[in-house]
Amino acid sequence: MTLAGRRILLIISGGIAAYKSLELIRRLREQGCAVRCVLTKGGAQFVTPLSVAALSEDKVYQDLWSLTDEQEMGHIRLSREADLIVVAPASANLLARMAHGMADDLASTVLLAANKPILIAPAMNHMMWAHPATQANLQTLQQRGVIQVGPGQGAMACNETGMGRMAEVTEIMTAIAAHFAQPGPLSGKRALVTSGPTYEPIDPVRFIGNRSSGKQGHAIAAALAAAGADVTLVTGPTVLVDPPGVHTVHIETAQQMLVACQQALPADIAICAAAVADWKAASEAAQKLKKGTAQPLLMLAENPDILATLAAPGPQRPQLVIGFAAETDDVLVHATAKLARKGCDWLLANQVGPGQGFGTEDNQVTLLRRGQEAAEPWPVMNKADIARKLVEEISRSLV
Ligand code: PMT
Repeated sequence: MTLAGRRILLIISGGIAAYKSLELIRRLREQGCAVRCVLTKGGAQFVTPLSVAALSEDKVYQDLWSLTDEQEMGHIRLSREADLIVVAPASANLLARMAHGMADDLASTVLLAANKPILIAPAMNHMMWAHPATQANLQTLQQRGVIQVGPGQGAMACNETGMGRMAEVTEIMTAIAAHFAQPGPLSGKRALVTSGPTYEPIDPVRFIGNRSSGKQGHAIAAALAAAGADVTLVTGPTVLVDPPGVHTVHIETAQQMLVACQQALPADIAICAAAVADWKAASEAAQKLKKGTAQPLLMLAENPDILATLAAPGPQRPQLVIGFAAETDDVLVHATAKLARKGCDWLLANQVGPGQGFGTEDNQVTLLRRGQEAAEPWPVMNKADIARKLVEEISRSLV
């Protein structure tokens, strides 16, 4: 497997292991990669911008607030023009800021704005590594599909011994090569995922919405991408970061979601996890409705059914169309009827209500397959684990 032509964005954060990153740049360049580097303030304490620039044969990006950097490149373009973002060393501090979605310097802003896969090589003191906060941050990042290499065990610069040494350059190179070599069970497949709520305007300031956070749909998009699929995610308004490596389209209304989904066709797989508003205001007031004498009457009109549209027979119908059913009562009865009515192949039924389904970290779903009597209840799982299990089922069914 050759790495020639691959574009790597290397983020070097503060840690004694930063010296190994210079060797990493050299090895990547030898393999024909284009390497562009972001050096954090901490990173610059350990390696000089001059060495990084000389080895990468490119400018080094350091400052979010530099007018020239932002004019020339911009934090958005830095990630857009890379195939893979490598964070080496990844300090405990940078991992924490990544996990919490902070964007207070160039490196963290690039990572938050990234739409590309991210590989981290953590490096830190063994007590920092073992700390529950660091482990929780790593778990969060893993659930988002971040690839991790190392750390290893051994003597540290602080004269202590333990887990936390950055992986060796050869190990990082192997992980990078493996990432690009990996075909994945869904390589060559195109997938479309809907996620989040839709907002249906009533007037310029008010809308009809719902409590969907997008966590389930985004996790599915990330898991499909990790399995090698070419994924388009059409999402309503959420506070979530776009999953790395996923083409994400942001919409507000059900009508916009439908158009974006149709534009994403053809696709092999379509998964509708969005909580699409069934109704919209029949007409949107041009001005803010004012409190007045008469009680306003809200007339509703039905929204298009995106799942039913995608599942309708025709040349553009994806091979596998999967819907969700969000029910508050008689979950399986309603879900079974929905599976038949919408024309999809599979349906994941989940109970929603206070503390259930919407916005939660965990979920419990039951898989119904068209033409198969028995429902398959899955245990309560983290939404990322549900997404991975669903992708396994899809991979098995598409072979
Ligand atoms: O986003 P989270 O906070 O993580 O919560 C996840 C979830 C609870 C939203 C998710 O697991 C879920 O159940 N999504 C479907 C929500 C929903 O709208 O269910 P429904 O039973 O009303 O709709 C059935 C199916 O038709 C769904 O696949 C829905 O996307 C689709 N639909 C519904 C209406 C419509 N106009 N167009 C559609 O495509």
